[in-house]
Amino acid sequence: MSRIIQFIKGLLAKGPDKEERNMINDLLSPEAQQAFYHMTSADQRHSLNVMKTAMEIVEHEALAASIDVDFLKRCCLLHDIGRGPKMNSFRKSYGVLLDKFCHDWSLKNSQKPSNNIFKDIMYRYYNHPVIGCNELMRLGMVHEADIVLRHHSGNTENLLINEKKILSVLMQADNSN
Ligand SMILES: [Fe+2]
Ligand SMILES: [Fe+2]
Repeated sequence: MSRIIQFIKGLLAKGPDKEERNMINDLLSPEAQQAFYHMTSADQRHSLNVMKTAMEIVEHEALAASIDVDFLKRCCLLHDIGRGPKMNSFRKSYGVLLDKFCHDWSLKNSQKPSNNIFKDIMYRYYNHPVIGCNELMRLGMVHEADIVLRHHSGNTENLLINEKKILSVLMQADNSN
């Protein structure tokens, strides 16, 4: 049921409004903004919702004093940039279904980029954390890249305490959206 709601939300999703655009411009460099706006409207909306939920968690758990809130916001906005510009609701649903019913086969056949749109969807479905990480490294955002890389695995190896908190809030917020 939640998947169906997610699908409908994705179809109806709108990109950022003027106020959100101003906030994005303040938080991200022009290159990082480009990476954000390169995503589908649905993924832009998802990332904004993740950021909003993350801020609620920060407030609820009184974390603002112990973490870099702007850093967390940037991680939220950019965590799914590796999904690229083509991951609309239909393609995302295709990814979810294929992963659910043909996991091993689909994983095995999705390990490299492809010009075939169906293979590319699955490649990005599984590898968007590393794709996003590489993109952020290219932009010199090495700390954000390290968090984005881990946003599905949750691997906390070699992270500092405050980075662990950032990853944990990002993952909680991502799972609620
Ligand atoms: Fe993701
Ligand atoms: Fe996400």
